[in-house]
Amino acid sequence: MDILDRSVARAPQTPLDPKKLPFGRTFSPNMFLVEWDEGKGWHDPRIVPYGPLSLAPSAMVLHYGQEIFEGLKAFRHPDGSAHLFRPDRNAARLNTSAKRMCMPEIPVELQLDAMRKLIRIDDDWVPSPPATLYVRPTMIATQEALGVHSSKSFLYFIITGPTGPYFGTSSSTVRIMVARDWVRAAPGGIGSAKTGGNYASSLLASAVAKEKGCDQVKWLDAVERRHVEEVGAMNLMFVFDGVVTTPPTSGTILAGITRESLGVLCKELKLPFVERPVHIEEVFQTLASGDCTEIFGCGTAAVVSPVGELLDGDQVYRVGDGNEGPVAKKLSETLTSIQFGTAKDTHGWMVKV
Ligand SMILES: Cc1ncc(COP(=O)(O)O)c(C=O)c1O
Repeated sequence: MDILDRSVARAPQTPLDPKKLPFGRTFSPNMFLVEWDEGKGWHDPRIVPYGPLSLAPSAMVLHYGQEIFEGLKAFRHPDGSAHLFRPDRNAARLNTSAKRMCMPEIPVELQLDAMRKLIRIDDDWVPSPPATLYVRPTMIATQEALGVHSSKSFLYFIITGPTGPYFGTSSSTVRIMVARDWVRAAPGGIGSAKTGGNYASSLLASAVAKEKGCDQVKWLDAVERRHVEEVGAMNLMFVFDGVVTTPPTSGTILAGITRESLGVLCKELKLPFVERPVHIEEVFQTLASGDCTEIFGCGTAAVVSPVGELLDGDQVYRVGDGNEGPVAKKLSETLTSIQFGTAKDTHGWMVKV
């Protein structure tokens, strides 16, 4: 499908300072749009200046939350070229989310083509390391109608923006609150889809966590309230007796692309890696006994994010010595050096823009 180019050419007014780019606050000058209508399919792909969308107040997304999104990054390499990390996996996951949310799938090739063209046009907005260009593909239900049913029209768009670290703290570790009063996702629900409702339902717990000096919420399973699932925008990994351990993605957890990639890297680095349910009491006991030496989150935005402390009610559990541990450090360095093009990409993960 040919993409119409109606972009504006605009370079940043001042050079992008990689240290002064809060996450998700600056947007590149152009965006990609394509529409879907019942009986017509996807049509009119175009790149236009970034700006407000025209949406009827009756658009179904505003009432019933039929929307999905993705998040991935482009990295500036030493030779000046820009590369996306595993965009095919994000495009495939968007289609998995689409199926669950009763929305049309969008050809992976169209998604990839759109990302690459858009980033090529806004190349000046891909910052230097350690900052990156964050890419946010989104699909929303646009039919003007009330009444709960699937929309007959959709808009898919991509916006991008240069961004620094996800957690705006100077500390190298994060503090996480165990959510006892709320759950994120139940079996049979939408926890494995990347859809706005999952994030909206997490906001209250996040606000309470913030009041308690925490950066994110650690979710437990909805049925037994015992098994660790994931944190706000990251999957979780534990190091138990030298074994990197992560809960299985059993339908209530988002299947993270960073999680999947770290599993591959663990095997290469000869770090034992298992997927198995992790009981919250096991975490507390092994933190006390010293058998759990590290906990870290992983995700596109936060990359590898070591957990320094866990908060459960009034109880504070320190992880290791409260600083980044050797496994998190090794995985973080290995992954980011592939992403920034300073180590060989033996997996074909990086896609040149
Ligand atoms: C709820 C949730 N879990 C996990 C992740 C990590 O996924 P990925 O590594 O694909 O960014 C994210 C971020 O996208 C997320 O929002």
